[in-house]
Amino acid sequence: MNAPNLDPEIGALCALDDIPDGGALEVPPERPGLPPVVVLRRGENAWAYRNVCPHFSIPLNYEPNTFWAYDAELLMCAHHSAMFRFEDGLCVDGPCRGAALTAVAIRVDGRMIFKET
Ligand code: FES
Repeated sequence: MNAPNLDPEIGALCALDDIPDGGALEVPPERPGLPPVVVLRRGENAWAYRNVCPHFSIPLNYEPNTFWAYDAELLMCAHHSAMFRFEDGLCVDGPCRGAALTAVAIRVDGRMIFKET
């Protein structure tokens, strides 16, 4: 898995092309004390969430920057298989069905991903 192409001078979280199409990339939090961010990609679209599963409030992955995504539609928590929609982070199957990931507002500009302020 590629390391995020962070560019602190322009404040980007990562480049769109750092994220596998249909997959996910973890990037460091924008401030100390916040959880890392997991950025999901489908083609030219991207969504970002705090890397915290609402089931047990632990990271969605158990190996560094390794995420399970299905059909570029669903992200699965590695612990108890909760399934979250890319578009809104809603858990549609698993032990926390109906809960949602915490969204991080982003925008894609020039194939770079920026956190909205
Ligand atoms: S910690 Fe994510 S499904 Fe249980």
